[in-house]
Amino acid sequence: MDAGELQWLESHLSRNRFLPAPPAELTFCGDGDYRAIGAEFLGHFIRLGDLRPEERVLDIGCGIGRMAVPLTQYLSEKGSYTGVDIVKTGIDWCDRNISAKYPNFQFQHLDFHHPLYNPEGGSNAAQIRFPFPDGSFDFICLASVITHIEAAVLLNYAREISRLLAPGGRCFATAFLMNPPARDALRRGQARIVIDPEGEGPEFHADPAAPMAAVAFDEDFLLEKFLRFGRKRRRAPIYGCWSGRPSAVFQDICIFE
Ligand SMILES: C[S@@+](CC[C@H](N)C(=O)[O-])C[C@H]1O[C@@H](n2cnc3c(N)ncnc32)[C@H](O)[C@@H]1O
Repeated sequence: MDAGELQWLESHLSRNRFLPAPPAELTFCGDGDYRAIGAEFLGHFIRLGDLRPEERVLDIGCGIGRMAVPLTQYLSEKGSYTGVDIVKTGIDWCDRNISAKYPNFQFQHLDFHHPLYNPEGGSNAAQIRFPFPDGSFDFICLASVITHIEAAVLLNYAREISRLLAPGGRCFATAFLMNPPARDALRRGQARIVIDPEGEGPEFHADPAAPMAAVAFDEDFLLEKFLRFGRKRRRAPIYGCWSGRPSAVFQDICIFE
């Protein structure tokens, strides 16, 4: 797909009212335009992560299908998509509205505890093993998920992602990365996610009363978690505007391979 075709696809996906979108009362994954954000991320997956139509995608923290819906218009029948999340209502909506029409799109509820998203959840995400064999996926994404987990979960997920990626596989992850430019921007006081720039880290919370509502990690700390399990950066991160830095994207985008 060339740049012009991709631009057309993104614009078509943002405007197409025939594609499913959850009703407002079921939406739990942030505000903003569901279709436009999904279309924007599909563009990132292809441009930055080299996602190809025949690949096997795992979406960790798939929410209520915001990434899956646009992928139905890109992945071929040879490709597949698996979405996992800890919120059952999101998975049920995806089953009804996506898998029913696209059988190569599958969703699975994982009952991991999270103080905000799944307070009744029984298992500890820091200790689980995802229910998939080694090397099952070519592309793993975590869109706005690392921004809601603690360091022990990040470590386990980095290990699991490494296990689950096939040779040549890539991991696309967004995060709030603390580094000197982000701290400088935070000091200027124009951040959209307000975190104490003098905090010690490596894990930072915007709201101490609800720490998992918005989590940032020291950039080197996060990088080390992926390097430790044999992954490396595929390209330099794209830094977002969350801290007040000028950028066209909101969260920082990392691609590992
Ligand atoms: C801001 S939402 C983003 C959802 C989706 N990726 C999107 O962009 O629309 C964060 C998601 O992360 C999920 N989540 C939080 N902790 C998780 C964990 N330990 N494992 C998997 N998903 C998790 C939440 O249930 C929620 O759906």
